[in-house]
Amino acid sequence: MSNKKAAKYSRLQKQIFELVSKCDHKESRMATINAILYHKMAGFFWVGFYLLVEGRLMVGPYQGPLACLELPPKKGVCWASINSGSSIVVKDVHEFPDHISCDSRSKSEIVIPVRNKDGELIGVLDVDSNLKGNFDETDREQLELIVKLFLQY
Ligand code: SME
Repeated sequence: MSNKKAAKYSRLQKQIFELVSKCDHKESRMATINAILYHKMAGFFWVGFYLLVEGRLMVGPYQGPLACLELPPKKGVCWASINSGSSIVVKDVHEFPDHISCDSRSKSEIVIPVRNKDGELIGVLDVDSNLKGNFDETDREQLELIVKLFLQY
């Protein structure tokens, strides 16, 4: 666990709170979270949300290179996170059997499920890095906290 990284997340969480606390529109909050994480966290090459829409996983607000608009079912890290209801840290995307590559520069990835106030899954937060092994338990804990604090309502 990196204390430096945790301290950075803590500063960003305060900043996100200041920006979104008066706005209850979910997509606007998502866009703001993306902008903060993409511009302030090292190695965050793509940050965005895939949202469940009538059983399909469609791209929502994001920052970074162009991404797939829809993720084909039963494949990839995002669907695996939806199906298990848990976060997934992938140190090397080439070792995740049916990883969906929207951009060949992505080397590692973390996916966090997003729930509404009733605990129903509404999508995922997905972060890709152009560096191998960029995500660890600190990222998992802190990104889960961001999703819970600012989107679970
Ligand atoms: N790699 C993801 C697809 C989305 S992109 O990373 C933006 C997956 O395997 O589900």
